[in-house]
Amino acid sequence: MSIALVILAAGKGTRMNSDLPKVLHQIANAPMLVHTLQAGAALSPAHSVVVAGHGFDAVKAAVEEYDPDATVVLQQEQNGTGHATNMAREALADFDGDVIVLFGDTPFVTAETLEKMIVARDKSAVVVLGFEAADPGKYGRLIMQGDSLEKIVEFADASDEERDVTFCNSGVMLANRAVLFDLIDALNSNNAQGEIYLTDIVGIARDRDLAVTAVTCDEAETLGINSRAHLAQAEAVFQSRARAELMDLGVTLQQPETVMLSFDTVIGRDTVVEPNVYFGPGVTVESGTRIRAFSHLEGCHVSRGSTVGPYARLRPGAELSENVHVGNFVEIKNAEVGEGTKVNHLSYVGDATVGKGTNIGAGTITCNYDGVMKHHTEIGDSAFIGSNTMLVAPVRVGHQAMTGSGSVITKDVPDAALALARADQVTKPGLAIKLFEILNKKKHKRDQESQ
Ligand code: UD1
Ligand code: CA
Repeated sequence: MSIALVILAAGKGTRMNSDLPKVLHQIANAPMLVHTLQAGAALSPAHSVVVAGHGFDAVKAAVEEYDPDATVVLQQEQNGTGHATNMAREALADFDGDVIVLFGDTPFVTAETLEKMIVARDKSAVVVLGFEAADPGKYGRLIMQGDSLEKIVEFADASDEERDVTFCNSGVMLANRAVLFDLIDALNSNNAQGEIYLTDIVGIARDRDLAVTAVTCDEAETLGINSRAHLAQAEAVFQSRARAELMDLGVTLQQPETVMLSFDTVIGRDTVVEPNVYFGPGVTVESGTRIRAFSHLEGCHVSRGSTVGPYARLRPGAELSENVHVGNFVEIKNAEVGEGTKVNHLSYVGDATVGKGTNIGAGTITCNYDGVMKHHTEIGDSAFIGSNTMLVAPVRVGHQAMTGSGSVITKDVPDAALALARADQVTKPGLAIKLFEILNKKKHKRDQESQ
C-alpha cells in the first residue's frame, strides 16, 4: 500500500514568544518540521503534504529545501486539526493509498512506530497512535472498548470520568485517503473550542461500523514542543538518542553529554571524540580518526586516520584527506588538505588547496580577502611553509618549495624554490649590553623620581 504524509504545521506557537513560526525552531540544527519529515521519510511516502499557515513563505522555503517534491498548502485560518487536514484534500485527489497525519511540532515519532501503525491498518479502517501519559494534562483521551477505539474526547469536552483516562492521543492518525476525507466531510465544530477536530473522525467511523484501533508508543516519541523549555528538552532528547546511536555504531565518546551533534552528523567507527566537541550541520568524519577536545566542526569532511584539535575549527568546505594533522588554534575553511599534511599550530587556511605531505608552520595565514574579493592559495606537495608566513592570495607555492619564516609571499614560488620575503637581519656586536645599561639607568631615574 502506498503512503502519503500530511504534516500539520499551520499553528502559530504563541508560547514560543517568537517571530519565527514554531515549526522552524531548530533541534540539532534542523527545523523541527524537518525532523517530522525525516521520520515520515522512512515510509518512502509517495507524497508529502505540509499544511502551513503562520509564516507560510518561510515554512514553504524550509520544506522545499529539505524535500523539493513536497507540496506545501495554505491553511488561511487555523480552525482546527480536522480543517487543517482537509487542506490537503486537493493535493491528494489522485492518490490511491493510505494517508498518515503527523504534527510538525511532534518531531520524535520513530519509523518503527509508524510501521506498527501500518501493520495495524490491515485490520482497521482508522489507526490512531496513543501513549500512556505520566501526566495526561490537556491531551485528548482515547476511549477504548477492548481493542476497539470508540472515540477521542478532547480535554475541554471530556467528562470527569473521561479525564481520568491516562491513554492519550498523540495526534498521529492513519486511514485510507478516500475514507479519511469522507469522514472529514462529516465533521462539525459543535464543541467546547468551536474547532473542527480531526479526532472526531474516530466516533464518526465507529457510527459507520468501521473498525478503529490504537497503537501504543513510548511517551518520549510524542513529545510536543510548545515553549522554549520544551525545545530545550527536545534538543536533549535528540542529543542523547544520537549519541547512543553513534556509540552503538562503534564511535567512542569520552564524555558523551558534552558532545553536540547535528541532525545529519556522520561519524565512522573507531573514531574517538574527546570532550566538548561541537558538530554543526554537514559534517562527515571517517573511521579511525580522533577529534580532540574543544573542536568546532561544520560543513566539513575528515578522512580516515586524521586528527583534529584540540581547539581546532573546521568551517564549511574543509576537506581533510587521510592522515592529516590539524592542531590547536587552527582554522580551516573552504580548503582541501592533502594526505599526511600537517597544520599543527595557530594557522588560518582558507580558500586554498594544499598538497600531500606538506608542513604548514605555526602562525601561517592565507590572506584570502582583499577587502572586496576572495582569492585562492595553492600549495604543492611536500612543501614547507615557514612559521608566520603570510600567503597573499592569489598565490601559488610549488611542490617541494619552501618559504622562510616571517615571509610575506605575494608572488608565486616555483617548484623546489626557496622564497624569502622579509627584511635582512642587522647584527651589531656588543650593542645589546650598551642598550641594557642605558635602559636600566633610565628606569632607575624614573623610580627615584616617583618616590
Ligand atoms: C491535538 C489533539 C489532541 C492530542 C494533542 C497531542 C485535536 C483536536 N486534538 O491537540 O487530541 O492529544 O494534539 O499533542 O486534534 N494545526 C494546524 N491547523 C489548525 C490547528 C492545528 O495546522 O487549525 C497544527 C498545529 O500547528 C500543530 C498540530 O496541528 O502542529 C496540533 O495542533 P494543536 O493546536 O497543538 O492541538 P492540541 O490542542 O494540542
Ligand atoms: Ca499541541
